Amino acid sequence: MKHELIEKNVGLLAIFIVIAISFGGLVQITPLIFQPETTEPVDGLVPYTALEMEGRDIYIREGCSNCHSQMIRPFRAETERYGHYSVAGESVWEHPFLWGSKRTGPDLARVGQRYSDEWHRVHLINPRDVVPESNMPGFPWLEENLVDSSLTGKKLALFKNHFGVPYTDADIEGAEEAVKGKTEMEALIAYLQVLGTALK
Ligand code: HEC
Repeated sequence: MKHELIEKNVGLLAIFIVIAISFGGLVQITPLIFQPETTEPVDGLVPYTALEMEGRDIYIREGCSNCHSQMIRPFRAETERYGHYSVAGESVWEHPFLWGSKRTGPDLARVGQRYSDEWHRVHLINPRDVVPESNMPGFPWLEENLVDSSLTGKKLALFKNHFGVPYTDADIEGAEEAVKGKTEMEALIAYLQVLGTALK
């Protein structure tokens, strides 16, 4: 019996298991590579400005994704709380993705324009000043640190040349100037305010 042969031979069984699992993976992954809605930006998506790009790097540096996801799943409980579920076309220029999976705090995929800049400033310095029961840590140093503008142009150029994000030469040349003298707080808030606003 051929089946018995496979079941009694661990090496052979392992090989067939790998083949079986690969098929499952390929069936899910291959179509995604060719579907326009997973590879094309949604209408109205614009690349991050130089300041927003620096804000995003601060978001990564401060570990905001340890407590915040940026991925609204297509379930009623989520869409009623956060808004339209996340679609792939919003993330095509995200490198790396910040979707996350841990929600100690709320999802931030559509937090853009939900609060004023001033609300964010107060909240990021000491969250308890606006949300008394909050256990989010404060990030007061963002208000004092200036953005390091020395690499901003290079970052935009990298996104253009390696990831195909449509920055113009003027964007790249003006990047350093655009963030010079701005605080890290201003950069982070600029980034938060644009999150999820492309999808109408
Ligand atoms: C230790 C976990 C933790 C970390 C780290 C953290 N947060 Fe939060 N965050 C929370 C919690 C909990 C809340 C809900 C209470 C509140 O609004 O303060 C929250 C709320 C928020 C909100 C309001 C969201 C809404 O829809 O009301 C924003 C914006 C936010 N966080 C941004 C950030 C940013 C930016 C960072 C990184 C600089 C960060 N958080 C880091 C836990 C965290």
